[in-house]
Amino acid sequence: MNRLVVVSNRVPDLTASAQAGGLAVALGALMQRRGGMWFGWSGHISAAPAGVALTRTEHVDYATIDLTADEHESYYNGFSNAVLWPVLHTLPDLMHADRHCAEVYHATNARMADALVPLLRPNDLVWVHDYHLLPLPALLRARGVHAPIGFFLHVPFPAPDVFSIVPDARRLLRDMLAADMIGFQTPGDRDNFAAAAHRLLGAARLGESTLVHGGNRVRLGVFPVEIDPRGFAELARQNADSAATQRLRASLGDQRLLLGADRLDPTKGLVQRLAAYRGLLANHPELRGQVTMLQIAAASRQDVATYRDLRAALERQAGAINAESGEPDWTPLRVVARAVPRGTMAGYMRLSRVGLVTPLRDGMNLVAKEFVAAQDPQDPGVLVLSRYAGAARQLTGALLVNPHDPEEMAQAIGMALDMTQDERQDRWHSMWRAIEGTSALAWGRGFVAALINANRSRLDHAAANDPIPMLPAPAEPISLPLALH
Ligand code: F6P
Repeated sequence: MNRLVVVSNRVPDLTASAQAGGLAVALGALMQRRGGMWFGWSGHISAAPAGVALTRTEHVDYATIDLTADEHESYYNGFSNAVLWPVLHTLPDLMHADRHCAEVYHATNARMADALVPLLRPNDLVWVHDYHLLPLPALLRARGVHAPIGFFLHVPFPAPDVFSIVPDARRLLRDMLAADMIGFQTPGDRDNFAAAAHRLLGAARLGESTLVHGGNRVRLGVFPVEIDPRGFAELARQNADSAATQRLRASLGDQRLLLGADRLDPTKGLVQRLAAYRGLLANHPELRGQVTMLQIAAASRQDVATYRDLRAALERQAGAINAESGEPDWTPLRVVARAVPRGTMAGYMRLSRVGLVTPLRDGMNLVAKEFVAAQDPQDPGVLVLSRYAGAARQLTGALLVNPHDPEEMAQAIGMALDMTQDERQDRWHSMWRAIEGTSALAWGRGFVAALINANRSRLDHAAANDPIPMLPAPAEPISLPLALH
């Protein structure tokens, strides 16, 4: 079996007991079963990075590098999180572009490629993850790597006009196309990418899943990220009466719980969600004293100005809701601005009557799947879910809402609170059926199998000297200023 080399900005923190991010959780199952090497940022900043640090564990070798302060500021906070993140989530107004950040982003990717190449062995499979590392496939090829290279984008891909506002948009697309296989969360993300590659680079699409560019065939695929639903259901059962769950239950009395659990991130629609709750309380005075909303908003990326501004805005809004609707003996909204352990969260989810997952846009959103898995099938809670989360394609039993429209969301929350037990069960069953046969492990294996096939078929076409079909150039190229280096 070929060794699998995973490359991602963040690797699991082996020293911390803290919860790893979604990407690390999704890949953890595959790496523990298959073994291999995991390369990425150590999570540390040092003035003069000392090169690659290797940590061997039973199954996985972790190879990490430190970032310099400028790389952390410009590659991670700057270009990755203040340019690519908002644009990929179709929130271009939040983009803070700056030429220096773009240069450091490319240079940091090049430094990562330089550090990785000497660690690669013949017959390795390389799997690159997410928006921090868009240039890596081309940088590895330029350094003579012939191994199969896969790329998976965990976040959404926007419409071509939106993507084109990223500085160096064409260069980024061209660099991604050096991979054998590019994976997306949904068919919409895949189609947006193919359309952008066509309009900005003249790449041609053959059928659904092949792009041809610069004499190369690149396979496109859709691989929705999954959780381990049975494992999470068991965790929720175990935590149904944990000390933390009991304390929360006791504090609620007979009130029904509305729960949100997100990173404190502008894409998560938190301001609109709180506005919906505020409207619901204003229009339904009978709910006073009958419901409580708990919003876990784990602080995240606090070095980025937009994230700090969001935290301040949420604190103001939460204060306004409690001041306006609160009673001496009732606080309508509780906000906790830090992460809670996974088991505690599973217990809270099981206790909730309504789960609020309303991102403005989201690649997948694993919290939505976890909420479903955590429910008691006899007395399940209702999921209110954004139409613009990747998870909405699978979880059609949720109340699907427009996260930009607080009134529509308030109506959906009202419906969820009034819903009969029969309807709650029906909706829950349909959602459970959609996820019960899935797993994070199968997701990882599915991508790796598709990567091996894509590489084989590219080599077969090359060996057979198959002509690349001539296809029409894009009719109407985008006329925005584009730097192509
Ligand atoms: O959605 C992308 C992602 O990388 C997730 O995998 C992860 O949970 C989150 O962003 C964490 O972001 P960061 O690494 O910036 O803390």
